[in-house]
Amino acid sequence: MFKNNGYAPPLIASKHPKSAAAEAYRTLRTNLGFAALDQPCRSIMVTSAGPEDGKSTTAANLAVVLAQAGHRVILVDCDLRKPTQHRNFQVENHRGITNCLLQDLDPVAVSHNGLVDNLSVLTSGPIPPNPAELLGSEKVRALWPALLERFDYVIVDSPPVLAVTDAALLAAQVNGVLLVIRAAATRVEIAREAKEQLAKAGARIIGVVLNQVKMPARDYHYYYYYRRKEEEEKVKF
Ligand SMILES: Nc1ncnc2c1ncn2[C@@H]1O[C@H](COP(=O)(O)OP(=O)(O)OP(=O)(O)O)[C@@H](O)[C@H]1O
Ligand SMILES: [Mg+2]
Repeated sequence: MFKNNGYAPPLIASKHPKSAAAEAYRTLRTNLGFAALDQPCRSIMVTSAGPEDGKSTTAANLAVVLAQAGHRVILVDCDLRKPTQHRNFQVENHRGITNCLLQDLDPVAVSHNGLVDNLSVLTSGPIPPNPAELLGSEKVRALWPALLERFDYVIVDSPPVLAVTDAALLAAQVNGVLLVIRAAATRVEIAREAKEQLAKAGARIIGVVLNQVKMPARDYHYYYYYRRKEEEEKVKF
């Protein structure tokens, strides 16, 4: 679903909203609505089996397209092993979720606001020595309902499921989990193992994101042509 055309800045949905990749993130946003028809799904963790599958990129762009649709969104970097959202949004990471938890600070006051309209970004903050202990704590469990009172969506970035227990701990605390699979790289049995670990942890897996799909250039250009025509039509009428 997510195309890899050799160039994918981390915040493509914000920087290049007319790109095919941004459109794919908007499709993900639409599909979330279908996945959550019966049970509302407003806190969503993004994870994957292994490293570098595209969790943080997916979480950031999903948060951006939800905010672009007018929802109040907070993106929380809960990858306390290898946080990257401060780099994606090019902001400082002196303070973040770890400060909120350890020093009882207000997450909204600590987060970066106004980078994208309607979006707050809560970076990791200083990396603690015991991420799993912190993420499994009562304070973190209490954080999600508190954030859902102030935001329409809470998007949670996380470490890989099979590497550490953090993602499994968080999975049980959110309404739903998106599992990112890297096309042509994630082995089926590894993806299945990740899914089983999440299920065992009590997660509700709401969908799978197939990331970094190689797309023939011809389709890519056709897509652009199609979009251009569509936009011309909009201008005409
Ligand atoms: N759809 C995509 N097309 C092209 N490049 C992508 C895509 N998604 C992610 N990438 C690139 O792949 C690399 C890994 O992405 P990302 O940091 O999002 O993965 P991750 O799963 O969060 O990694 P980690 O396990 O280290 O946290 C980055 O360089 C990112 O820019
Ligand atoms: Mg990451």
